[in-house]
Amino acid sequence: MGRRPFIAGNWKMHKGPAEADALARALKTALSDLTAVDVAVAPPFISIPAVAQRLQHTGIHVAAQNLHEELSGAFTGEVPGEMLRQAGCTYALCGHSERRHIFGESDERINRKVHAAFRSGLLPILCIGETLAQREAERVEDVLAQQLETGLAGLEADQVATTTLAYEPVWAIGTGRTASPQQAQDAHAFVRSWLNERFPAYVGKQVRIQYGGSVNPSNAAELLSQPDIDGALVGGAALKAESFVGIIQAASA
Ligand code: PGA
Repeated sequence: MGRRPFIAGNWKMHKGPAEADALARALKTALSDLTAVDVAVAPPFISIPAVAQRLQHTGIHVAAQNLHEELSGAFTGEVPGEMLRQAGCTYALCGHSERRHIFGESDERINRKVHAAFRSGLLPILCIGETLAQREAERVEDVLAQQLETGLAGLEADQVATTTLAYEPVWAIGTGRTASPQQAQDAHAFVRSWLNERFPAYVGKQVRIQYGGSVNPSNAAELLSQPDIDGALVGGAALKAESFVGIIQAASA
């Protein structure tokens, strides 16, 4: 399809500055001849400066796991996109399922975060995905359409084209239960057809759609061989250099 694979590691609430630096250093060594795949890691906020410094000039990008939707102000405990960019981030996850389900982020709020990412010079990775109950009720396409409709509202076509989407079925995250390659491909194909209906053709051709949910070095190759799966958003298996590198190798094969 001509889309460069994009593998991102979400470290969630793991790895303080020293441990994060050690993992970044291991990735820097293991991926020194990285050419065919885009790679990013998303450390906790507190570890971003150490990781960004370690990964300077390596081609491995840094992502924020979250950002606040305002540029600055009285928002105790929050971090805006502009500061994340200054700290060395290129990307920002928006609407990860843990933000949606544990912290109650709505599609409207996530949309404001996507806009804030662009205003701050960050590229958003918008996460979408259905719960098990929604899948069992055969509502997958409705749920994805709603999350896309609201999550991408008000963006220019050129902005959508540079947004990464991450399809992460909630029931597959951290559970060891991966979507089958066919289930994932069906959801990704739906997302791409949704884009094609609303935006000029170049948008759907360009947008990378990552799959996320229990991706590991053993299941990555088959998932990534699907025509509409352009990469992976990796949680647990991104916490060790060996398994994260194994997934990146599967993407470059
Ligand atoms: P997992 O997490 O790979 O541990 O399932 C994926 C994610 O939450 O992005």
